[in-house]
Amino acid sequence: MQEKISEIQNQAKDDLVRAGSPEDVEKIKTRYLGRKGGIINEIIKAIPGLPPEQRSSTGKSANILKKEIGEWIEEKKAGFNTSAANASPLPLFDVSQPGVHKPYGRRHPLTQTIDDIKGIFKKLCFDIEYGPEVEHEYYNFDALNIPDDHPSREDFDTFYLGNKRLLRSQTSTVQIRVMEKTKPPIRMIAPGKVFRPDTVDARHASMFHQIEGLMVDEGVSFSDLKYVLTLFAKSYFGQNIKMRFRPSFFPFTEPSAEIDISCSLCKGKGCSVCSQSGWVEVLGAGMVDPNVFDTVGYDSGKYTGFAFGMGVERLTMLKYGIDNIRLFFENDLRFLSQF
Ligand code: DAH
Repeated sequence: MQEKISEIQNQAKDDLVRAGSPEDVEKIKTRYLGRKGGIINEIIKAIPGLPPEQRSSTGKSANILKKEIGEWIEEKKAGFNTSAANASPLPLFDVSQPGVHKPYGRRHPLTQTIDDIKGIFKKLCFDIEYGPEVEHEYYNFDALNIPDDHPSREDFDTFYLGNKRLLRSQTSTVQIRVMEKTKPPIRMIAPGKVFRPDTVDARHASMFHQIEGLMVDEGVSFSDLKYVLTLFAKSYFGQNIKMRFRPSFFPFTEPSAEIDISCSLCKGKGCSVCSQSGWVEVLGAGMVDPNVFDTVGYDSGKYTGFAFGMGVERLTMLKYGIDNIRLFFENDLRFLSQF
């Protein structure tokens, strides 16, 4: 009988080690200590049937084991209580689950274009310059040789803030600011926002982006301008792009040109974006007018230079075949996430 008791002892220990929940422990308690049919009670009940010399020792051992198992059960229960108290209220972390997908942010397509263009001009040793968006009339018009009666000075072409301040309508302002503080040689581009009270439609917005360019040194010629802009257009649009220079007029450049590229949307065949002409204007440019040099105190007998200005939205639309400028400003992720 003693043997059987120590077997039960081992078995009870084993069962308790394996018990994974308070419910398991309850079942073990009933199995070993239950009044009706519990293993220990069965042994105690069987004592009167044992030979007299075994009765007392068996009773003793059975009671000790009963107490022992009772203690083990309490210990095991206490263990469950503390681990339940320590457990976080959140479900346990399942290491086998796939991770939560956090999509990467990305640069806005206009920022990408500006960065691409900065990269192209940095290779040509052009500096990147910035100027204020709230400007003085002097930088937006006077210093750029724009006469008092020029239509671009009208209220319907410029946002005036009062006190000769305005929201700059072109990044050409940065040419003047850079020449005021630097001596030639100058090679710079100036990206930034410009503002015009245009009626918003598929091709116009009241805020858009331009990149201005300026190179000034002794002996800079129109062929340098042509070389730099051709290199730029081929780097940005690809080697097969077609360009044309048309004579034009800007108050701050003489001679001036407008530069068109073949319409990438219809491949030059004619569509609504290029007004059926097969060409789209992307740049204004020219040789810096000597009057501008005189205004900033440069010797216009010694220095020559070229300047250019381009529209970032238009360049981006042509490169990617976007037919509505509003898409850039609506913050619609279905559009933005394609870039
Ligand atoms: N500022 C002009 C515009 O907004 C663009 C431009 C034309 C800039 C000719 C230039 C230039 O530097 O030489 O329409």
